Amino acid sequence: MNDLTQNNLNYKKYVVDSKLRYFKSHASKIEKTFAEEISSTLGIDSKFITPKFFYDKKGSELFEKICTLPEYYPTRTEIGILKSLRTELPCYLDESFRLVELGSGASVKTRLILDMFTSLQNTTEYFPIDISEILTESSEILLNDYDNLRITGIIDTYEGGLEFLKNYSDKKNLILFLGSSFGNFSPIDGRKLLQTINSTMKPGDLFLIGLDLVKDIRILESAYDDSQGVTAQFNLNVLSRINDELDADFDLNNFSHHSVYNVEHQRIEMYLKSLLRQTVVVSKSNLSMNLEKNELIHTEYSHKYSLDQIRELLEGAGFVINHIWLDEKKYFSLTLVSKV
Ligand code: AVI
Repeated sequence: MNDLTQNNLNYKKYVVDSKLRYFKSHASKIEKTFAEEISSTLGIDSKFITPKFFYDKKGSELFEKICTLPEYYPTRTEIGILKSLRTELPCYLDESFRLVELGSGASVKTRLILDMFTSLQNTTEYFPIDISEILTESSEILLNDYDNLRITGIIDTYEGGLEFLKNYSDKKNLILFLGSSFGNFSPIDGRKLLQTINSTMKPGDLFLIGLDLVKDIRILESAYDDSQGVTAQFNLNVLSRINDELDADFDLNNFSHHSVYNVEHQRIEMYLKSLLRQTVVVSKSNLSMNLEKNELIHTEYSHKYSLDQIRELLEGAGFVINHIWLDEKKYFSLTLVSKV
């Protein structure tokens, strides 16, 4: 069986029109359900909720709002760097590249890169990879604004989507992983993901990764505990989601947002703090859990890096660094690498 036949077996193909199609992995169905994951992560002593569950409709809207907050510097800083790359990044590209994005974007950042592609190419191919079907919405928005764009969405895990692309065609890829989303992975999972990205790349492919940098602790802590309380709402919203989808009885008034910068591990740690001793039932996870006063439920890590660590991390995963771009204040980085 050749690789393309293999892809056809593992994915269901949806053709919307000549500009838009999706491949949806059958494998995602056999992943643990939300109820099962919550049962195993809240039914233990060190309770946690995986950050991927932040992003229901409300959570995604709140995250968009976070990105515009005065204290949350990463988004506007990364956009500033991308704007400054308008002349430099195209020097690494040519007609034969297609754009691949881990996480689906219809946002300013994806558009800035698409602008570079569409000015170089007659037709630009864009492959967003996202586990959520949200990419169908963001793709339609982009197609309204770019005439010469063709989108193939891959609804799958990052690893699954990259494997799909490896088997897809010989075109060169520029893979984007923006927003320091990488910082939300544990160091072990992050390294594994980088190795997977590297192993699915062909010689000539490029990978552009946005990573947040270590800086003054006050700037970091206020970015994750803003004065308008939007980050707190974002964090607490995961409990509303569990209430709605898993028939749970979290009383949001009994929890508070807690975030702190861990200097040793160079990461913001976000938690939900139980304000009193309480019992919460999550019916669909068959779970009744007791929480002590001040007990913390861990919800997110957001790692910050030094330039040396970025080099070490990427070179350790088998990449060669082409360029690291920074903003003037050295708050954020964009690194372009290729395969050794
Ligand atoms: C998506 N991710 C990169 C954000 C971050 O900065 O770690 C998520 C976030 N959490 C709170 N504010 C923003």
